[in-house]
Amino acid sequence: MQRDLVRRGRLSDDRTGEVMHFLSSMAADHEIADMDVLVDMAHLLMLSRQGIIDRAAAEALMRALLGFHRDGIPAEAYDERFEDIHAGKEAVLIGQVGEAFGGRLHMARSRNDEVATCIRMRLRDDLIALVEETCRLRGLLLDLAGEHTETIMPGFTHLQHAQPTTLAHHLLAYEAALGRDCGRLLGAYGRANECPLGAAAFASTGFAIDREMTAALLGFERPMGNSMDAVSTRDFALEALSACAVQMATVSRLCEEMVVWSTAFVRFVTLADGYSSTSSIMPQKKNPDTAEIMRAKAGTVAGSLVAALTITKGLPMSYNRDLQELTPHLWRGVEAAHQSLGVLRGMLATATFHPDRMAAESGCGFSTATELADVLVREYGLPFRTAHSIVGRAVKMGALDLTTLEAAAQEVAGLSLCGQGLTAERVAAALDPAFSVAERKAIGGPAPSETTRAIAERRRLLAGDEEAVAARKEAVATAIAGLILEAGRLTEHE
Ligand code: ARG
Repeated sequence: MQRDLVRRGRLSDDRTGEVMHFLSSMAADHEIADMDVLVDMAHLLMLSRQGIIDRAAAEALMRALLGFHRDGIPAEAYDERFEDIHAGKEAVLIGQVGEAFGGRLHMARSRNDEVATCIRMRLRDDLIALVEETCRLRGLLLDLAGEHTETIMPGFTHLQHAQPTTLAHHLLAYEAALGRDCGRLLGAYGRANECPLGAAAFASTGFAIDREMTAALLGFERPMGNSMDAVSTRDFALEALSACAVQMATVSRLCEEMVVWSTAFVRFVTLADGYSSTSSIMPQKKNPDTAEIMRAKAGTVAGSLVAALTITKGLPMSYNRDLQELTPHLWRGVEAAHQSLGVLRGMLATATFHPDRMAAESGCGFSTATELADVLVREYGLPFRTAHSIVGRAVKMGALDLTTLEAAAQEVAGLSLCGQGLTAERVAAALDPAFSVAERKAIGGPAPSETTRAIAERRRLLAGDEEAVAARKEAVATAIAGLILEAGRLTEHE
């Protein structure tokens, strides 16, 4: 690279290396460099079709760009003496085809609309990958749920034994949350998939550009409607990070449960060795490190979101260089979420659940007391509050058997349950965790009949999300393939 290729406009050329490094986004621009070449191609095709650039310049430039697309942008373009890859790539292009041609590509645009377009394109791909990965995880959870509709386990509130449920019910709770995550990610995708190109610095341009054409060539739904908004907003990035942060909050909860469930106290699950670590001093140790790292990644993603929000708040219209500082947080957050989803799927797919331990715990802590109170209501006509008081008093007395219940009923309500026909067998049946679960067959409940129905319904919803993401992926791939084809045609001599 020639030193004089770093163009400074009206400014003198006296920036120190330290300041250049401080200002440069080059390190992060590796993430968008490939997209930038596609953006150049679409812009150039449009300039050519609109007669804004002449044929010879367009051909020479497109040949060079196709070379960049095929072999990568030459390394000189990544020199940190350039503020960013946009400036570096332009300098290299000019070096290759001469200023008379190369100096024409940046007509009718600015780096402001260029970078916003690149970020949206890269984010589109990331969001598609995230939804695909989330769908795979949902599929696994539904498979596991299908295997465990009859696996009785204790359910908890406040991490205290509360009522019996099933492992299927527990896993379906996470699948439901991940389904909403798909909705949020696809919503973010829709709003990211609008094209800022042609907004130029912020005020659009006097050249007769065709923004519909560049938007379509790059696979966007439409051009953005306001050129000032187009270059200045990063709300699409905030939304994507927010969707990731919400999703990771859920992932983190599941990981926390795997940490607790794999302890010697609980032993509901054994995680595969491949997803565990040992200790450098305690040879017996098997630690759930992947779950712990995922739990921490939720913090990383939340941090990326907070950084991005804080960077954008209070920025006056329109483009401000502050926005450059946001972009690495976007990639960091999205990547942490993406990695975590894949690892979580592997961790769950290889985990061994222990139905015997779950069954042993499912009746502990008087966890079927609610069902017993319900039986007193349904079969003996008591108000629920009275039944709740009787059963609660019996628990306090230390047992849920006929004798204790009878004493509690006399004390709390002055009535005899035995006199009304309550038997020891009826009490024992009501206290059976499987009975309690089977009774809970309303929509969303843990009864095997209901979870079986829910699994089928969730599979249909999952298939819908899989189709939605496949259609978006296909639309982008088709547009980009068409763009490359058109770019190639431009370089063919008639
Ligand atoms: N590198 C910048 C960014 O990432 C884009 C260039 C806009 N620079 C400017 N001085 N207007 O946001």
